[in-house]
Amino acid sequence: MVSPCPDGVPTLPGRWLDRRARLCPVSSPEPVRTPEPSTGVDLRVNVGTVRLKNPIIAASGTFGYGLEFAHLVDLNRLGGIVVKGLSAQPMAGAAAPRMCETASGMVNAIGLQNIGVRAFVAEKLPQLRHFNAAIIANVFGCTVSEYVEVISILEDAEGLTAYELNISCPNVEKGGAEYSTDPILTAEVVAAARSASTRPLWVKLSPLIGRIGLTAKASEEAGADALVIANTYPSLCIDAHNRKSRLGSTTGGLSGPAIKPITMRLVYEASRVTKIPIVGLGGIEGPADVAEYMLAGASAVEVGTAHFVDPRASEKLVGNLEMWCRDANTFEISKLRGSLEA
Ligand SMILES: Cc1cc2nc3c(=O)[nH]c(=O)nc-3n(C[C@H](O)[C@H](O)[C@H](O)COP(=O)(O)O)c2cc1C
Repeated sequence: MVSPCPDGVPTLPGRWLDRRARLCPVSSPEPVRTPEPSTGVDLRVNVGTVRLKNPIIAASGTFGYGLEFAHLVDLNRLGGIVVKGLSAQPMAGAAAPRMCETASGMVNAIGLQNIGVRAFVAEKLPQLRHFNAAIIANVFGCTVSEYVEVISILEDAEGLTAYELNISCPNVEKGGAEYSTDPILTAEVVAAARSASTRPLWVKLSPLIGRIGLTAKASEEAGADALVIANTYPSLCIDAHNRKSRLGSTTGGLSGPAIKPITMRLVYEASRVTKIPIVGLGGIEGPADVAEYMLAGASAVEVGTAHFVDPRASEKLVGNLEMWCRDANTFEISKLRGSLEA
């Protein structure tokens, strides 16, 4: 059951998110610090040819199409917004319940519900492009030709900065194996998307792979401009009282603070075998989390589950990051990238 928070934004009742909200009455895990007029901190970063005014990007599926948050969040403060995953046809998504909490995060099985790429181009993008944040379209399909179809439709639209290819999807032509779990399937879908696209192509990997280096390399060689590491971790939550899964589609994907150290290792390992930039995400809440991902090798980060604790999480993080950098005598945040000491 979903209960409204004081802002009127739906939040999940339960253990971790509730506890977070109680501990932090302003509903943000971090105290909010308003940057002084001139901190001297340069938050600008590059993800390949994409220049962002700061490294904070709202993650796909946790921030709608961005517009739903515009009355609460100053979207112009964000480095970027990755919109909800787009498919060739609208999708109704999975059976309810679709989300449940865990000790330090949440598990979701939304089932990639979305309005379809054509409705996005006609109804959302014209408004979204007026905001001063990079707009990144998250793209997925069940076949390679569906990925290509979505990109081809987006190619004719103005106002997009890049594509983020979600390859944690079952390939119905290959017995349902996820593209991301097999370097050959990864290379096939990335190469097809590359040929269809004139915009920067970011490839979002699944964490469920034995050696991330193989998929990372396969993406790079097939033409990816950046890697996004990573998606959620396949999980199962059971209600022992009724002996049923807590989710309508039985299994789901784990996200939030629980996955941060595991994903950060993937960022670190991928950064050692590829030359293309990495966008890191998984469990980011505060400015130190951002710095840690950058030290591990990320050029920028995305914020996901934190929006379910506080819809303004990523906006607040921009200001808090600036103050954190000043306190840490880090006046060019881009210099943190990959500077983990041995
Ligand atoms: C409710 C929900 C919906 C999501 N939908 C998508 C999606 O449509 N496409 C996608 O690539 N990732 C999706 N994700 C994954 C997030 O973008 C992100 O990779 C993951 O949650 C890890 O980051 P976090 O720990 O900061 O949430 C979704 C995550 C959540 C929690």
